[in-house]
Amino acid sequence: MPTAPEQNDDAARGAAPDAPVIEFRDVGKRYGDNVVLDGLDFSVRKGDRVTLIGPSGSGKTTILRLVMTLEDATEGYIFVDGEPLTHEERNGRRVELNKKQRKRIRQKIGMVFQQFNLFPNMTVLENIVEAPLHVLGHPRAEVLERAGNLLEKVGLADKADAHPSSLSGGQQQRVAIARALAMDPEILLLDEVTSALDPEIVGEVLGILRTIAEETDITMLLVTHEMQFAKDVSNRVLMFDGGRIIEEAEPEAMFSNPTHERTKSFLRAVLGEDQIGTR
Ligand SMILES: Nc1ncnc2c1ncn2[C@@H]1O[C@H](COP(=O)(O)OP(=O)(O)OP(=O)(O)O)[C@@H](O)[C@H]1O
Ligand SMILES: [Mg+2]
Repeated sequence: MPTAPEQNDDAARGAAPDAPVIEFRDVGKRYGDNVVLDGLDFSVRKGDRVTLIGPSGSGKTTILRLVMTLEDATEGYIFVDGEPLTHEERNGRRVELNKKQRKRIRQKIGMVFQQFNLFPNMTVLENIVEAPLHVLGHPRAEVLERAGNLLEKVGLADKADAHPSSLSGGQQQRVAIARALAMDPEILLLDEVTSALDPEIVGEVLGILRTIAEETDITMLLVTHEMQFAKDVSNRVLMFDGGRIIEEAEPEAMFSNPTHERTKSFLRAVLGEDQIGTR
């Protein structure tokens, strides 16, 4: 029986049970003539912790922003839990889905940014409860209890009524992590979350993320220059260059024994000469 396009929505487009949590299929992203991502294929399974590495401008942030629907791909398809995120193929054509679809799927995803991006006019607590209350519509008492637990978890129970501007960078980033977790996300996107922090407080933020990685099965896609952290929490590393994946390996293999020349030179620059190929 033919399905009317109007019906081709939530229920009809049920998630495939065995689908990867995130799948990129032939994804391209251009800004004018600048090809940022080029025929990109990869998938992330439930509970995977995938680190994206690669030179500046290789498209790492763009990938996270596409998953978060802060940008749209210019070609190809992205699936979350087997469901198309922004576009799908219909009768051989690439068709944009309605905005409801991306909004619904985005609720499964949390993102933490390099620059924290907290709402400056709201208190710490308000930052955390805003989306669970007003996007998910969860009951206030439940949301407040969860927010309290999360603030404990990130060590900021005494800062609930503070405004972001009165907090240190490390504290702001811990609020941003709590805010992302308050949505109970299935997927957590982390874009260089320690790059804007003073070296002595990088550890406190990474420590919290390590605990989250250990205690939850949240699927993580992360961009970081903290290679030890990447080694500790991730099970796969993807090396990007020129908008494509040029090498993929488990962290141990990638960092100690990369095979691609470009990966070797990149890691030499990041890790230092003596760390590569010593095994
Ligand atoms: N809004 C935009 N408009 C135009 N070009 C953009 C935009 N956002 C990103 N780009 C370009 O896309 C390319 C990839 O950028 P992206 O931020 O994804 O790189 P990256 O790998 O995250 O780099 P870095 O390690 O420096 O953060 C760059 O050439 C960048 O100039
Ligand atoms: Mg970036």
